[in-house]
Amino acid sequence: MPTPATAAFVRREAARIMTRNRRTGHADWNDRDYAYVVPSPGSYPFQWFWDSCFHAIALTHINRDWAREELLTLLHGAQPGGFIPHQLLWEKDRHPEAAARQSEDFGARYTSTSIQPPVLAVAIERVYRATGDAAFLARCLPPAVAFHRWLAEYRDPDGDELIAIIQPDESGIDASPKFDPLMEYPRDNDDLVRWIARLYARYAPLRLNDRAILDLDLFNVEEVLTNVFHILGMEAIARLAADERLATEFAGREARAQAALIAKCWDDEAGAFFDLAGKEERPLRVLTVASLAPLALPSLPRPIVERLVAHLRDPETFALPYPVPSVAAREPSFMPGDARGFIWRGPSWINSNWLIGEGLRAHGIDDLRQRLIDATCALVERSGFREYYHPYTGEGFGSRDHSWSTIVVDMLDGPVAGADGGEG
Ligand code: GLC
Repeated sequence: MPTPATAAFVRREAARIMTRNRRTGHADWNDRDYAYVVPSPGSYPFQWFWDSCFHAIALTHINRDWAREELLTLLHGAQPGGFIPHQLLWEKDRHPEAAARQSEDFGARYTSTSIQPPVLAVAIERVYRATGDAAFLARCLPPAVAFHRWLAEYRDPDGDELIAIIQPDESGIDASPKFDPLMEYPRDNDDLVRWIARLYARYAPLRLNDRAILDLDLFNVEEVLTNVFHILGMEAIARLAADERLATEFAGREARAQAALIAKCWDDEAGAFFDLAGKEERPLRVLTVASLAPLALPSLPRPIVERLVAHLRDPETFALPYPVPSVAAREPSFMPGDARGFIWRGPSWINSNWLIGEGLRAHGIDDLRQRLIDATCALVERSGFREYYHPYTGEGFGSRDHSWSTIVVDMLDGPVAGADGGEG
């Protein structure tokens, strides 16, 4: 356990950062009020999909009204067909330079045309359990249901229950080296940015027609982390649905997707899960933190759980002094130092530590879970709430006061089960 002083520091700083990074106001472009937390004031001054879901979970420990508003603001982006964008640029006109830095050319638009891992229903369930707010649930569940149906309809062209992403940043682990073979092996972030610009140009005439984009087969990846959240989200919906038919539908969808993930992505020799690329479903055999993400699935068969946990105990791969590195240390592509934009290639991130911690909790691997909580608190104590950290030294890199890193409070204190009306 972290010392009481460390735990108190982590909680206090988390509350300070979330207060400082929160933005409220009224947007003219869609005539809506907004209240959400920016990932980081300097580098990321807009709303990002999966960041907001992690923020909402962290906020259940800090201010439950803010947790509710975070998700309700995100849901202002939901489209009638079910799609929910990866980015909402609420204050775009105040931050023209940051808007121009995004991969997408937003033009007159304020929302992106891509997705991020569907963490939404998991976050909705956490906020609902913390607040007991049935009206909140009734407002949020239908768009979450519609989003998972949209994913199944437009992102699963081969009908195998695994959804596909169309560009690397949709994974949330943007420059992961597992995508290198699809991206002409970028040497640095500039190379990557140029490759993404070419991809966007090829997609431009087909944008928002995701089936046609997937049919091009330029970047068509059944990505493990994305599918883990798709499955966890459908599980959450099955638990939360008041309507029995909806609950049965989502329990069936979830079970089929989990079976497909194991049948198609599990590699028994490596003891890990790998993405499938292209219509021919070529496995991308690079051992990354995403390869271990299925640990978070509560009904994952025990023999698979044990193989994944073995990696987390292995000093050659993931058991580094400040785990969990985004890429296994023995991979040739492992880059533990300052990424300078070339991210998710080695450093440890607190949002993925949270997911791995959820898996260790679900499967009762308590010693390792406790060590992960200790190491994550130690990172924050040593270097503050940074975007990512050196897995050997704990040095912090990337943006400062990075909001989702505050989810360490959820690792520390566990899920909030309040249901007391929810005053935070
Ligand atoms: C980086 C991360 C992405 C995140 C964004 C905002 O691009 O790779 O996952 O959503 O920053 O924090």
